[in-house]
Amino acid sequence: MCGIVAYMGSRQAAPLLLNGLRRLEYRGYDSAGMAVLNGGIDIRKDRGRIDDVNREHDFSSLKGTLGIAHTRWATHGEPSMKNAHPHTGCNGDIALVHNGIIENYKTLRELLESEGHVFSTDTDTEVLTHLIEKFYKGDFLGSVRKALMQIRGTYGIAVIHKGCNEVVVARNGSPLVIGVKRGEAFAASDASAILEHTKKMIYLDDGEVATLKPGGVVTVRNLFDKILEKNIEEIGWNLDQIEKGGFRHFMLKEIFEQPESIRNVMRGRLGKGIKLSINGELGDRKRVIIVACGSSWHSALIGRYLIESLSGVPAEVDYASEFRYREPLVGKDDLVIAISQSGETADTLAALKEAKRRGAKTLGVVNVVGSTIAREADMGVYIHAGPEIGVASTKAYTNQIIALLLIALDLAQKHGKKINQRLLSDMRKLPATLEHVLKEDKKIKAIADRVAEHGNFLYLGRGINYPTALEGALKLKEISYIHAEGYPAAEMKHGPIALIDENMPVVFIANKGKGYDKIVSNMEEVKARRGKIIAIATEGDNSIKSLSDWVIRVPRTADELSPVVNIIPLQLLAYYIADIKGLDVDKPRNLAKSVTVE
Ligand code: AGP
Ligand code: GLU
Repeated sequence: MCGIVAYMGSRQAAPLLLNGLRRLEYRGYDSAGMAVLNGGIDIRKDRGRIDDVNREHDFSSLKGTLGIAHTRWATHGEPSMKNAHPHTGCNGDIALVHNGIIENYKTLRELLESEGHVFSTDTDTEVLTHLIEKFYKGDFLGSVRKALMQIRGTYGIAVIHKGCNEVVVARNGSPLVIGVKRGEAFAASDASAILEHTKKMIYLDDGEVATLKPGGVVTVRNLFDKILEKNIEEIGWNLDQIEKGGFRHFMLKEIFEQPESIRNVMRGRLGKGIKLSINGELGDRKRVIIVACGSSWHSALIGRYLIESLSGVPAEVDYASEFRYREPLVGKDDLVIAISQSGETADTLAALKEAKRRGAKTLGVVNVVGSTIAREADMGVYIHAGPEIGVASTKAYTNQIIALLLIALDLAQKHGKKINQRLLSDMRKLPATLEHVLKEDKKIKAIADRVAEHGNFLYLGRGINYPTALEGALKLKEISYIHAEGYPAAEMKHGPIALIDENMPVVFIANKGKGYDKIVSNMEEVKARRGKIIAIATEGDNSIKSLSDWVIRVPRTADELSPVVNIIPLQLLAYYIADIKGLDVDKPRNLAKSVTVE
């Protein structure tokens, strides 16, 4: 779920590993630990933030040039010192870090215990160290392979043995990348952890295991010991792209990056028509089904609207977690689109695999290049948002919407529909439009100051901006821990209206355009019940002022683009409320950036 870093070379491992762990902090974790080879194996680990664990246990006291490190997000066993990784077997010869879940750990643990193995943690992971110990007869790699063949579930692992000068890494359903460089080798669950040392990466695929040996020698095999030829890929992201760039938080930086990231998703794809260089055709599918989780699910809802209205192809949306378990009626006539920022979300990946299994054509809409969903899908459209480090999705969300719009327009072209040139022109202007919206920043901060103490918020929108209401509410929930609900505005009178009084701020997405008059009626209803209204309204719309306590103005744009324009003030509102409350905006409690377990 969280992070792995490994090093094999001639430099001291501990400082490199510590740096790598810090780069992975954004993913969310509860414990940190490290093991370094030094004749024996020295381990330091504990629950808590990396810097606190380091202060307490001094990672730099670990001397040696080969080591592994981990940030844990507990799935089995509470966050604690004993449950933190690395784990050892009975005799301390092995140290192992693991991301993922071992499903059959109970059976294996019982078996191993009956054979005399003594367990010292509550984790699922520990069965692996005992299995390796059990199989070890002088061939370390062989024992790891044998152990992995026994387990069901997901893993990214890095493991060392006190008698072997090498690191063994492997993956199945949990990301693992190897960084190569002259004389040394790195491995990590995420390239950003090792990017400062090398840009040359080997991405492990499921069922592959690799050794990192002295001199930077990397060999990749499958579990049956067959050596595999792997491509070395050059990664495009720079480290300074990952730094905070002068902003207080990554989330704020990423909100402000949106004009640029929107430019990137359209780059080279927007001419007179749409040019999507997807490897494979969108084809003549009769129906589109979109699967995703969280914010990506919200962009999927907008995608459905765009695909149906622009291309005329029927589209459905499902939570990936529901789709994968509900015997979906999907087959060769369908195009299944999986949307995922990280490209590693377990439910979305499983839904994609299920769709493939049932014969559908699959398309990934993904941010992280080389991620599992990106590689698993038949075709892909990268959203090119760049690294998104704030746990709350912002720029990836808006880029997903534009990627879906491009797909909708591409489908429209294929179905012989005329492309609305005004929409294309508004798309070209969109980065400038967003720059303009971001200028409302101070005003939004002032509104946040006035409403931050409220305990409940309602977000209402209609049509293509109903998902904007959902996403606005999710942003507030995630980072400010304030209870917020998003609804289609017309649903208000079927229940939520009972909540409204002077203590209930209601955020309306009320642009001029489709559904405007109806939204205004809903605002009247809230006003009549003394609710506090924050309205996102179109510049020049003066009539909305009398109904609202606060108005945030956004420029007029095509209806299809309005969700991108409207979400920006809502991201800023959530951000400032959380910041006023002094909360850890980039790493909200209980949340992880990518949810690689069910
Ligand atoms: C967004 O702010 C979230 N933290 C979360 O809902 C996220 O969108 C979801 O987990 C899906 O992630 P993915 O896009 O990486 O698949
Ligand atoms: N399942 C393992 C545990 O609970 C690994 C969790 C992780 O991926 O960090 O310790």
